[in-house]
Amino acid sequence: MGYEVLDVRPMTKRIGAEIFGVDLTAPTLGNQLLSEMHDALMEHQVIFFRDQPLDHESHKRLGRAFGALAIHSGVAGIADHPEIVAIHADENSKFVAGEDWHSDLSCNEEPPMGSILHLHTVPEDGGDTLFSSMYAAYDALSPTMKAFLEPLTAVHDGNHVYQALFPDPTKSYPCNSHPVIRRHPVTKRKALFVNGSYTTRINELSKDESDAVLGFLFEHVKNPNFQVRFRWRKDSVAFWDNRCTQHFAVWDYFPEVRSGFRVTVAGDKPFR
Ligand code: SIN
Repeated sequence: MGYEVLDVRPMTKRIGAEIFGVDLTAPTLGNQLLSEMHDALMEHQVIFFRDQPLDHESHKRLGRAFGALAIHSGVAGIADHPEIVAIHADENSKFVAGEDWHSDLSCNEEPPMGSILHLHTVPEDGGDTLFSSMYAAYDALSPTMKAFLEPLTAVHDGNHVYQALFPDPTKSYPCNSHPVIRRHPVTKRKALFVNGSYTTRINELSKDESDAVLGFLFEHVKNPNFQVRFRWRKDSVAFWDNRCTQHFAVWDYFPEVRSGFRVTVAGDKPFR
């Protein structure tokens, strides 16, 4: 793909690129630049930027350039900015966001298209985020397994995830079924769409069969051959496409502080 205004440097053959030559805090980013950012996201599935001291307004403006901002269905937004969630860990944390492989809010009827995370405080070492390509995970399956999975749908449930974090019997969270293999609405490529955080059951199989197949697929997505690992620095930004990636936040820096904010760009109903 040709880029005129962006310097796009792939990090692996399958997933991830660092992008240079852009100031994401600028009041206007320009159509050419936004179009090339979108192209880079479609090509590399997750794109990374350095030295971008986003404030809440520039963060939301950046997200809105790619679609409506979604309100997180499991975690409350920060004061005065319901579209922004804090991602924070320190010496008092009992858990951190994203400690299991997942695609953000796949429990929603219309899971988010993308997420944009900015970290303003990072630990001295550690705190990396791993991203796995669900195109690569799908492509690596045998033709027989692809054909078996093709007609299946799976339940994605937010209840066990958020009740474990914030126990409250009066609250309920989204729970929806989606195709196990989804077709990306822009690239038209097929991607594996089950994840260890939200996916609880394959509808068309018995419980034992479903557990076995999901167990295999949850292990399959962890293959390092599908992954890129991002080392954060202060004011780094990651923008990932939830329709074709999963990610995992490594919590190896306790009791140090790692802190930032995330916006989520709305998506659409997954289809085959
Ligand atoms: C998340 O959005 O799942 C958190 C990712 C991270 O903190 O690296």
